[in-house]
Amino acid sequence: MDKDGLFGRALQAAQASYSPYSKFRVGAALACADGTIFTGTNVENRSFGLTICAERSAMLAAISAGKREFSGIVIATPDADYPVSPCGACRQVLSEFLPAEAFVHFGSSCDDKVETTIGALMPYDALHELGKR
Ligand code: THU
Repeated sequence: MDKDGLFGRALQAAQASYSPYSKFRVGAALACADGTIFTGTNVENRSFGLTICAERSAMLAAISAGKREFSGIVIATPDADYPVSPCGACRQVLSEFLPAEAFVHFGSSCDDKVETTIGALMPYDALHELGKR
């Protein structure tokens, strides 16, 4: 699927957002290396710190389905008027599984997107060797 198609899937995922507190919908479409797509949305909680972002929802769904290799992720934030980048916690979780060159595209609309990589969003990423022991 091309990046515009992925943005469409992310936008669609945002429609399911559970965000009664922020009223800020986010959707993510995660592309697996085998071409399958997993989507996720943000799920808030009245104990605010338990909120799960769209990016982590998508990643946890994919990992739970047995996927381990990914090419990138597209994030849609239809309630913003500028591209909203993944939070620090999501960058850390994405970097666990995405290779540095994996694409990360985020935007409020398909025509207003930032196109970058997880390596650029997560500089000096380290300690991957711990998983190989
Ligand atoms: N949020 C995401 O799901 N992903 C992002 O990249 C930015 C923030 C969610 C968390 C919360 O439900 C709402 O957006 C406002 O921060």
